[in-house]
Amino acid sequence: MTHFLSALFFTIFQTVALLQRAHSYGNAHTCRSYCGNLTVDYPFAIQSGCGHSGYRDLLFCINDVLMLHISSGSYRVLDIDYAYESLTIDDPHMSTCSSIVFGNRGNGFVVERWREPYLNPTPDNVFMLLGCTAESPLFQGFPGKHLPCRNVSGMGCEEYYGCPGWNIIRRKKVGLVYGSGPPDCCAVSFEAIKAINLTKLGCQGYSSAYSLAPLRVAGPHGWSYGIRVKYSVEGSDSFCKACEATGGSCGFDVNDFSSLCMCGKGNSTSNCDSSVHSASHRRTRSLMDALAGFVGCIAIQKLSVTLGL
Ligand SMILES: *[C@@H]1O[C@H](CO)[C@@H](O)[C@H](O)[C@H]1NC(C)=O
Ligand SMILES: *[C@@H]1O[C@H](CO)[C@@H](O)[C@H](O)[C@H]1NC(C)=O
Ligand SMILES: *[C@@H]1O[C@H](CO)[C@@H](O)[C@H](O)[C@H]1NC(C)=O
Ligand SMILES: *[C@@H]1O[C@H](CO)[C@@H](O)[C@H](O)[C@H]1NC(C)=O
Repeated sequence: MTHFLSALFFTIFQTVALLQRAHSYGNAHTCRSYCGNLTVDYPFAIQSGCGHSGYRDLLFCINDVLMLHISSGSYRVLDIDYAYESLTIDDPHMSTCSSIVFGNRGNGFVVERWREPYLNPTPDNVFMLLGCTAESPLFQGFPGKHLPCRNVSGMGCEEYYGCPGWNIIRRKKVGLVYGSGPPDCCAVSFEAIKAINLTKLGCQGYSSAYSLAPLRVAGPHGWSYGIRVKYSVEGSDSFCKACEATGGSCGFDVNDFSSLCMCGKGNSTSNCDSSVHSASHRRTRSLMDALAGFVGCIAIQKLSVTLGL
């Protein structure tokens, strides 16, 4: 009898736990997904209609590799930092410390006009433009002074020139008069030029680096190479918070891109408390809570009896 009861209670416990899990997945986590070891969550999504419309058609999961696609090209997503609202992406044709890639093969960084408010490289991310022509818009209006080139967050070309990747370039340049013509490298922040379009800027290549440490990292070997991008949804965040607080999943209408709260079987334009479905879900939840409590009570009672209390 005791064994039968134990088995029965155990089964009921498991069922309740399972039901509760199924219930929560049916709502708040409808849109959350994973790609490789990265979590894709609001405002991002890889399913259509999920997340914020500013990030639609942006991320794609290909063979467990999360890719970001914007007008300048495709990048691999290395990390999404939800606490700091930033993501780190990599372009395989970007120069690093060990290799300098010329030949205008890199993507640079240009986003669609409509997406500009949602996605911007962080102010402490340095873009180092390499091998730009003297006619480059970068140098126009600043004869001989190269005014737009500066250090960003303590990172700049003077130090970057110390990278081993430059050795090959320098060997090729032997015999050229140093000091004439434009510099081989010009460091800028994204803010300064708003679009890293290598073709438009007349540059052969680029590198991008950021430093996560609050203290200045010594030397270009210590910098992290990649593009750190800030994302922000500003005003629409309160909509999503209210939606999630009532057990919904944040999404948008795929036709007019207006925000939607997905609540179980139905969608709401505000939150799940204002739709009929949510009410029934809440009843289910309180029923399950009551059941869990009831089973818990019996289990404790049984335990007391077993222990002879
Ligand atoms: C995710 O996987 C990549 C390799 O596929 C690895 O470099 C990275 O450190 C992993 N990230 C985490 C947070 O585990
Ligand atoms: C809710 O919205 C999503 C995203 O637009 C859509 O895919 C889904 O079909 C909608 N569900 C209902 C019941 O309208
Ligand atoms: C970059 O600039 C070139 C020349 O101005 C232009 O044709 C091209 O569309 C631009 N690329 C992007 C991604 O904006
Ligand atoms: C950038 O930093 C380097 C190394 O600290 C320094 O030598 C150089 O003068 C700085 N360049 C500019 C333009 O401030």
